[in-house]
Amino acid sequence: MKTLMVSICLWLLICSGCMVSSTEADADGGMPTAVEVGVTDPTKAIPVTEDTFVCLKKMRPVRGFFVSNILGDLDGTVASAMSPEGATYPPGSVVQLIPAEVMIKHHKGWNTITNDWEFFELDVSEEGSKIKVRGTTQVNNKFGGNCFECHQKAEPQWDLICEEDHGCDSLPIPGFVIRWTQKGDPRCD
Ligand code: HEC
Repeated sequence: MKTLMVSICLWLLICSGCMVSSTEADADGGMPTAVEVGVTDPTKAIPVTEDTFVCLKKMRPVRGFFVSNILGDLDGTVASAMSPEGATYPPGSVVQLIPAEVMIKHHKGWNTITNDWEFFELDVSEEGSKIKVRGTTQVNNKFGGNCFECHQKAEPQWDLICEEDHGCDSLPIPGFVIRWTQKGDPRCD
């Protein structure tokens, strides 16, 4: 029992450092890393700035994750998320599981390989969100896992959304740590 408690505390310590903290300075002075120039169609892009990202509590909860829509089509995004057969998310959809990792849907044709999803890794703090890395197939999370490689394993009807049973490999973190990270979003008041 004691060993279990110690392991849980260790998990919390490690994960508070790797998933929420944002104190480390980026080597490039904080500029978002630009990747894969030329593989997307800029005419199909939806502008995304650091202000696009908000506290998870301001987004709509759907089962275990959160959604919003930066073009105002929240109903469309929620309908896709709620569809029992799966659906293609509408442009403007923002999807998050934890504060630092985000998927945003651009207009159709932006990038056919990722179904027009862009992946983001953020640094989040009380001051707000800083884009650490953004892009299509080359964005990795803090564990070194490639967002697209993992999310593309979702069965096609789920439009790269993994949840727990859509065919993706599991995240290397237990569910209670995910919930705890969601509740601890430092951007919320
Ligand atoms: C090892 C595979 C893996 C990697 C790598 C990965 N994810 Fe996920 N992701 C998952 C799984 C599995 C879930 C669902 C977990 C759950 O619901 O408990 C998930 C959930 C999400 C969700 C909520 C919607 C959904 O698909 O369920 C978003 C958004 C997300 N991840 C974005 C990212 C981003 C951005 C990156 C890279 C910075 C990333 N993920 C890297 C497996 C992965």
